[in-house]
Formats: sequence, structure tokens, C-alpha cells
Amino acid sequence: MNKKSAFAAAAAMSFLATNVAYADPQAEVLHWWTSGGEARSVAVLQEEFASRGGTWTDMPVAGGGGDAAMTALRARVLSGNAPTAVQLKGPAIQEWYEEGVLADISSVAEAQGWADVLPASIANHMMCEGTWCAAPVNVHRIDWIWANAGILSANGIEMPTTWAEFNAAAEQLQAAGITPLAHGGQAWQDATVFEAVALGIGGPEFFQKAFVELDEEALTSDTMVAIFDQMRIMRGFVDENFSGRDWNLATAMVMNGEAAFQIMGDWAKGEFLAAGLVPGEDFLCMSTPGEGFLYNVDSFAMFDVDGQDNIDGQTLLAELIVGENFQHTFNLNKGSIPARTDIALDDFDSCAHTSAADMAASTESGSLLPSYAHGMALRGAQSGAITDVVTAHFNSDMSSADAVSQLVAAVANSQ
Ligand code: GAL
Repeated sequence: MNKKSAFAAAAAMSFLATNVAYADPQAEVLHWWTSGGEARSVAVLQEEFASRGGTWTDMPVAGGGGDAAMTALRARVLSGNAPTAVQLKGPAIQEWYEEGVLADISSVAEAQGWADVLPASIANHMMCEGTWCAAPVNVHRIDWIWANAGILSANGIEMPTTWAEFNAAAEQLQAAGITPLAHGGQAWQDATVFEAVALGIGGPEFFQKAFVELDEEALTSDTMVAIFDQMRIMRGFVDENFSGRDWNLATAMVMNGEAAFQIMGDWAKGEFLAAGLVPGEDFLCMSTPGEGFLYNVDSFAMFDVDGQDNIDGQTLLAELIVGENFQHTFNLNKGSIPARTDIALDDFDSCAHTSAADMAASTESGSLLPSYAHGMALRGAQSGAITDVVTAHFNSDMSSADAVSQLVAAVANSQ
């Protein structure tokens, strides 16, 4: 940075640091954080916004993974009435940018020095042709396995470190009359389990080829057949009422001792924590068997709207989201870790420490990978095509070979 721009940045920083009073900041915020842990988390932003004079109009659209929220967003934009701020992530940010409807938040990003406090892997997702077009909230990890500590110890079971161990533990639990796997039969949850299995069985290079590059050889490989074989085994470990169940109700099954394990991103930890449960005592966390780290970064994009009050609302929201206080407090509740690398993790639990250490190690080793199931790796049409096959396989007696053929055809059609 040259002297002049260093001065401009410093001046802008102190400008922000004095807590600028905006005229009458307004924001209508579309998000899908409606479970107990999620609502507790987003309340942190609502409170900070209000304490700076903002008026928050909440637009929550229930539905884990955000599919319903994205449908609602499209309807609003098509009717020429976009919300002010929207929970949006991964390549969907750039897809909306290409439609010419996103606001440029570079002035806040530059004033706050986002480039200096965010890892490049996260910052890249927030950029649209060199401008900042989204503000990152956190890093969620997908490839987690959660367990009821009491059930495992009563049955003499350790957290599984291979898929064979997982299968053996699940069979033992099933024989003892315990549902091994808490699962909600919704397409995005099937995809969440599938990508954790795929990373574990295929490894990071395979995952990159298959689910980031859509490489045909990887998509048609014996490895992919083996992944669907494991999904068929997993299908045998869920209870008979799994169809349509929300993810947080599946988490509650683990909490209440109705099931032993759940494979889910670490927003599940937000539910355990909201219920007052303690990691290592009441529930256990461990990365799913295998190498690598599947990341899912929540973020907010601002849509082009009229009115100075709305524009002030967007500026204030962007400033708060990447602010140190919000990054700390929100992520303590949400189960994720801060997107900023300069936030002390002293107050965070052991699962968060594991996540941060594994993220650093996987960045080094090249095994930090974007989640396909949570919209970080592919455009919507492509990830949707894969998930359709995953869920069709999980909910039928389709063979693994047929699933692979359908997968390749669906991916080809989506390009
Ligand atoms: C993810 C999102 C998380 C959490 C989860 C369940 O896609 O990144 O923040 O909300 O869905 O709704």
C-alpha cells in the first residue's frame, strides 16, 4: 500500500471506528435462520443493528439449507422488490451479480481492511469482478459426526475413525434397539451426508475432481460406485419416520437419546449449545472418517435498492457483520468459527478448536474444499442435478451402478 492509500484507509478506519451515526438505517433482511440455535445467533446482528439506530425488518424463510429462501428471493427480485440484505453464498453470489442486481460494498470492505483479516479462500467468494459484493459471517464445517455421549459409553462404542467402524458401531446399536443415525429425509440433508461419505471414501483429490471440476472420469469411477454403496448402507441405519424431518429435529433425537449419531454441519452444535449441553460431556464431535475439510461460508449480499435509509442500512450491516464483536459472539452461538483470522478463540469450545486447527492444516495440505451440498462449489443448476440423483438413490432401491449413470447424465444436462 502506498502512503496515500494507507492514509485514506486509516482515515476511513477511524471514521468507522467512531461509530458513525447514519440517518435512519433500514434493512429488510432475508435469511433462513429459524431453528433455536440459528435464531439465537441472528439475534446478535439484530441487536447490534438496533443499538446503532437501525430498524430491522425480519424476513425469515424457514427451511434448512436455504432452498425455500432462495425461491422467495427469486420471486421478490422478479417483482422488482428485492430485500435490502440477503443471506447468500458461494457461486450464487456471482450468479446474482451477473444479473446486475447486487450493490457494491467495497467502500466498507476497504475502510475495514477486509482483505487483511480474511483468508484468501474466503475473500475470493466475496468478490465480483474485483469488487466486494458480499460480507462473510463465518466458516461452517460440513464433515462432522455428532454423537450422544451417554449412548456411546453405555454401549462401549468409541467415535468411529473409519467408515467400516461406523458401520460396525451402527449395526451394534441397531441390534440393541437404538436408531444409529438421526436423519431428516430432505434432499439437502441427503446431499450433506453424501458429500461427507464422498470425501471420506474418495479423498480430497477425488472430491475436487468430482464435485468441483465435474470431471467425467471421477464421476463414473468405481470410487463413485463405492460411495453410493455406502449410502445404501446408511439408508439402513435411519428410522422409519425420517422422511421430510427437519435437521434440527434430527439433532434433537441425538440430544434426547432417541438416536446415536448425526452427520451434519456444525450448525448442529448451535442446537446442542442452545439446549445447554456440553461438548465432550453430553455430546461428542468428530470429523467424519477420512482426510480433508469441507467448508461452507455464510455471507450476506446487499441488493440494489432505492432510498438513502436503505443504503445506510446496507453499509451499517456490512460493517457490523465483519466487525470483531459480531464475528465473536455470533459464531459462539452458531457453532461455526469466525471468518476473520484475528479473532481469539479462547471462549470457543473444543469442537471449534478442532475446526480451526483442521482448517489451517487442510489449507496447508491442499485439502480445504468447498461444500457442494451447501452451494459453495458449483452453480445452482449443477449442484441441484447431483442432489436430485443422490436423493433419488437414497429413497429407492436404485443400484449404485444406475445411480452413477444417472449422475453423469444429470451433470451433462446441467452444463
Ligand atoms: C446451511 C447454512 C447454515 C445453516 C444450515 C441449516 O446451508 O450455511 O448457516 O443455516 O444451512 O439451515
